[in-house]
Amino acid sequence: MIDLKNKGLLHGGDYNPEQWLDRPDILAEDIRMMKKAGVNVVTLGVFSWSVLEPREGEYHFDWLQDIMDRLWENGIHTILATPSGAKPVWLDETYPEALRMDEWGRVRHHGVRHNHCPSSPAYRKKVEEMDTRLAEQFGNHPGLLLWHISNELGGSCYCPLCQKRFQTYLEKKFDGDIEKLNHAWWTTFWSHQYQRFDQVEPPFANGETSIMGLNLEWKRFTTWNMTDYMKSEIQTLRRLTPKIPVTTNFMKLYPGLDYRMMAKELDVISWDSYPRYHNDYESLYDTCMENAFDHAVMRGMSKGRPFLLMESVPGAVNWHAFNKMKRPRMHKLAALQAVACGSDSVQYFQWRKSRGSFEQYHGAVVDHLGRDDTRIFLETQETGEMLKKLERVSHSLVKPKAAVLFDWDNRWAIQDMKGLSQEKKQYEQTCMTMYRLLAELGVEAEIVSRDDSLEAYAFVAAPMLYLLGDGTAGRLADYVDKGGHLLATYLTGYVDKDTLCWLGGFPGDGLTELFGLYSEEIDSLYPGDKNYVKFDDESIGEVRDFAELLRVKDAEILGTFTEDYIKGLPAVTRKQRGTGAAWYVGARLDDASLKGLLEKICREAGLSADPLPSNVERHVREDDRFRYTFYLNYGSAPAAVKASGTNLLTGAQAEAKAVIPPMDGAVFAKSI
Ligand code: GLA
Ligand code: ZN
Repeated sequence: MIDLKNKGLLHGGDYNPEQWLDRPDILAEDIRMMKKAGVNVVTLGVFSWSVLEPREGEYHFDWLQDIMDRLWENGIHTILATPSGAKPVWLDETYPEALRMDEWGRVRHHGVRHNHCPSSPAYRKKVEEMDTRLAEQFGNHPGLLLWHISNELGGSCYCPLCQKRFQTYLEKKFDGDIEKLNHAWWTTFWSHQYQRFDQVEPPFANGETSIMGLNLEWKRFTTWNMTDYMKSEIQTLRRLTPKIPVTTNFMKLYPGLDYRMMAKELDVISWDSYPRYHNDYESLYDTCMENAFDHAVMRGMSKGRPFLLMESVPGAVNWHAFNKMKRPRMHKLAALQAVACGSDSVQYFQWRKSRGSFEQYHGAVVDHLGRDDTRIFLETQETGEMLKKLERVSHSLVKPKAAVLFDWDNRWAIQDMKGLSQEKKQYEQTCMTMYRLLAELGVEAEIVSRDDSLEAYAFVAAPMLYLLGDGTAGRLADYVDKGGHLLATYLTGYVDKDTLCWLGGFPGDGLTELFGLYSEEIDSLYPGDKNYVKFDDESIGEVRDFAELLRVKDAEILGTFTEDYIKGLPAVTRKQRGTGAAWYVGARLDDASLKGLLEKICREAGLSADPLPSNVERHVREDDRFRYTFYLNYGSAPAAVKASGTNLLTGAQAEAKAVIPPMDGAVFAKSI
């Protein structure tokens, strides 16, 4: 367990005192207000490079030392960021190789942020020099809690340095044999065979974008290269400050990098959450459940440790299509949700609004108004008080018994496949729906990837597992053989790790045997097309978007299609293997009937499905002695829930039931 020194939960956020060095009055006021708001941590140094090193080799750290000292004197920890998220102008001037090249082959001009070439030796060297000095100066600071590598690493670079690294990477991957690459990528199609690795270009937007294997491998390479870059920063810090853990802040389900790969290199997983609360296209509950899924993805990567909510906004952001204010109580509820899902922190971007430039209208705890009695400030303060009451929950864990398999390689492959209905593929939403429906049944799910061990779960839902990497199918079969319940859906097992189609029937690589069926065709439905599944209990489910023509060999048929030429053909099946079972649903079902199916599976898997009232979310964290049950009510009416123990937020005792007021939450502690 990484010791984050704190005994309770962290509360704070990004703080940019370098923007206010000529205003000591404001800096002093900040500390006073932080204490008032119950802030015990701030993140310093994100984007501070041009103040830390205004000219090459000229370092100015005094201001940082001073502010860190003063924060610490006031009981506030520091998460110290390396400043590599944005480059000072002198760096791009002196080392133009650090500038990124885009997918059209255009070299970027200096400016903005998150735009360095991760391969550039000059950039890596400059960052190393900076990180070394930061670690030397602040590594032993008693207030230093955690290193924050760069900021929201992302994007990809197509420059000659990156191209070269890509080619070397491919050469290694394909054992120096270009014919292996040609076969894996099926390059005979459209005469795209390569003769040498140095002929392989990245998939430039105006170049080779038609080879699915290349597109996928470029994404994997981009992850590998960005991770390699991140590791270079981590290495410097670990060498000099082995006791200080490292993190970097992830962005939700950012599609550009496989976070699972990056997570392996980090001590602590942290992420930035900015849901579109109170929008006009879904219920608040749905918005929050998407956020719960994102939290679960982070938790899944944390491997038995709490994660951190590194950024969220107390008010409104400035980059949504509509930058809507968080309505009263939303902020506290969102903070409670983070902790309920397994976060040991609630942090913000940002403490104080910048006076000018790009984010001057982005929400913050302290507005341009500068007051500590604003609606937002007061709710932040209340959040601080709430987190204090929940202190003992820190270090406890959420331990789900079910899992949803969500995989980056798979989403990339699905996104890029040419077929079906592009806009209806919705892989991410499909995984979220599984997660949400399970949650409504009272079943907490972990989010796992195809390489994770499945041992801890009685039930695994693996929707749309289009790509089967090496060993994936074997692992799934093994899971069922050992008594697990596995649910697969339409679009399972179509391609291998390089996106070559499996021959001899989908789902491939032996899974036709596991499920006792094969899929002969897949239909894309127009929104106006209608089909239904009739289950053996006579219930009817609606089919949307996709339906497969299944040929069943030795599975039990649980539901059949009711319309069109597939009328009477199997749609939902189950094959028993020992005490486990492999379930298959060959169509996208409406929520209610999918939920019915999930309930049946959970029951068979021995998971006590205990459905929640509508608009209510529940999570359970546990430590050695206590179970902490969190309830959140997003509805407009009070909700009656099952509860026993002490409500840590109010001190009230619950015997068997409790009522959660609208837009409120509760946390019941009960000894195990
Ligand atoms: C990201 C960044 C922050 C800030 C916020 C705005 O999370 O890390 O620097 O730009 O977005 O929402
Ligand atoms: Zn590059």
